[in-house]
Amino acid sequence: MTDRYAVIGNPIAHSKSPLIHAAFARQTGQDLTYEAILAPLDGFAERVEKFRVEGGKGLNVTVPFKVEAWRLASQLTERARLAQAVNTLKFEADDTILGDNTDGAGLVRDLIHNLGCALQGKRILLMGAGGAARGVLLPLLEQQPVALFIVNRTPAKAHELQQQFSAYSQVEAGSYQDLAERQFDVVINATSSGLSDELPPLPPGVFAADGLAYEMMYGRDTPFMKFAREHGAACIADGLGMLVEQAAEAFLLWRGVRPETEAVIGQLRA
Ligand code: ATR
Repeated sequence: MTDRYAVIGNPIAHSKSPLIHAAFARQTGQDLTYEAILAPLDGFAERVEKFRVEGGKGLNVTVPFKVEAWRLASQLTERARLAQAVNTLKFEADDTILGDNTDGAGLVRDLIHNLGCALQGKRILLMGAGGAARGVLLPLLEQQPVALFIVNRTPAKAHELQQQFSAYSQVEAGSYQDLAERQFDVVINATSSGLSDELPPLPPGVFAADGLAYEMMYGRDTPFMKFAREHGAACIADGLGMLVEQAAEAFLLWRGVRPETEAVIGQLRA
């Protein structure tokens, strides 16, 4: 029987997830369909339930419903629990609604496998303290960086996050002013500053030699990417690889098979 999956969000027309999952299904020979669902802003839970009772097997969840999905899940993976956000729902036969968050795993996989950037022993700067930053913290820390500094425009939010991850002594938090004289091997932009074409106030010497700049957004050359180019980052990446890798991780959770991602990333870039 053909199994049904979808991505749910608002807006949703721009989503590349149906393309990505169709490519994964072809490649792995899995019998499934994958559609895009526009949920009303005040009707997420109802739309999810409709899809589930119709026999849907799983959903990817995107803006602005990741926190609602986290609340709706009846069971959470550890990484989703800590992220306080869910981007993947799996509907089990016993009516369990499993919530997972594959964003961080997708980022880590893109960094390590696609960009050849091992994180162990590295100094990481994570910009932002909202949902996007929270979603990637645990998987980044699991790679054992020597330092992970959370910097945020509103420093109190960075400190709050640091406290939640106090089991990890390498986590620091602060403001952009605190970054003076500091250098990082990997600088990740998990802020939404790119959407408004703004640049967070990074000091010019923030990139170590061989430093990598990672923009979690994709589809546009953001001020952060331009800044990285002009201030000595050796490698600059956007979030397209992360998008495909988080999808592959969701596909693995649903189907037990991990698709190859390289060709799919290549297709999307083309
Ligand atoms: P998301 O789910 O995408 O993380 P969010 O939870 O609204 O969205 O968080 C947005 C993040 O981007 C926040 O860390 C925000 O900083 P504040 O907490 O100070 O608001 C950050 N951000 C947005 N625009 C920014 C800008 N122009 N410069 C620096 N940080 C910015």
